[in-house]
Amino acid sequence: MLRRPRRNRKHSHIRDMVAETNLDVNDLIFPLFFKEGVGIREEIESMPGIYRHSIDKLVEEVEQCLKLGLGTFALFPCIDDHLKDKTASEALNPEGLCPRAIQVLKSTVPEAILLTDVAMDPYSSDGHDGLVVDGEIRNDETLEILSKMALVQAQAGADIIGPSDMMDGRVGAIRRLLDEQGFHNVSIMSYTAKYASVFYGPFRNALNSAPKIGDKKTYQMDPRNKREALIEAALDIEEGADFLMVKPALAYLDIISQISSKFEVPVAAYNVSGEYAMIKAAHQKGWLDGPQAMVEALTSIKRAGADLILSYFAREYAELR
Ligand code: PBG
Repeated sequence: MLRRPRRNRKHSHIRDMVAETNLDVNDLIFPLFFKEGVGIREEIESMPGIYRHSIDKLVEEVEQCLKLGLGTFALFPCIDDHLKDKTASEALNPEGLCPRAIQVLKSTVPEAILLTDVAMDPYSSDGHDGLVVDGEIRNDETLEILSKMALVQAQAGADIIGPSDMMDGRVGAIRRLLDEQGFHNVSIMSYTAKYASVFYGPFRNALNSAPKIGDKKTYQMDPRNKREALIEAALDIEEGADFLMVKPALAYLDIISQISSKFEVPVAAYNVSGEYAMIKAAHQKGWLDGPQAMVEALTSIKRAGADLILSYFAREYAELR
């Protein structure tokens, strides 16, 4: 045998030297949940190690994460039920929970980059990402609400807007309003290929945001489709997206690979709540080694072509490095 691939695996230093994929703490974005109150840090039952924080505790969490080398945080407000209505009006309140959290974070930890979520579901009494009229999710009426929501977040100091709603034309609508209002430096990370996935279950528990009727299949993508993701990506680029995102990540590595090889903008992948919960649950049961499963899962997402990974493991990974 002239060729023996095992020679390059004979020592850990050689393995490190020839490693094709390196996952840096810089590549990770940490999603954070928060709610009204003071001094609150409550663990989310279906996401061990992940908490709902009050704003004061959120600041502490971000400070600690910055020390660990994490720089970007995705913010998810947990809105009280009594503030939810059909039009998600609380999402447009400049004194609401999310804008307040952004302002506090920007004034206390200005070096943290803040990515905010644009979709109606955490604020909607219907639990849908768009406006529901006669049982139908109305696309164009929703765009108006979403772009105003993005503007409120930008005015509060958000660095990157993350539309996660999957309405047609939302990136363009948001870009136009932001530019009109002078926020041309605020970026858009579009949830480009967001699939109608059962892996969002623990997130919806965390925010109590599950749809009250029906499912999200008329707007989120069908898991059976791959080429359709390219249509979504092309539209998002045309409409001004600075980053594309694939979500979930682990069951969609082929989509990450395809999008990152065909488009020039940075590609993010969202390692979602259910993917996190599965590894945590198996670890708790003693069925596999959680930290090793975390590293392998995150590395495979990077290897598939993701430049950035949103993951509930971000802090744990940073602590391990
Ligand atoms: C809101 C939103 C969801 C997630 C991120 N933004 C839930 C959904 O679309 O139902 C899911 C994230 C996760 O599961 O970790 N539109």
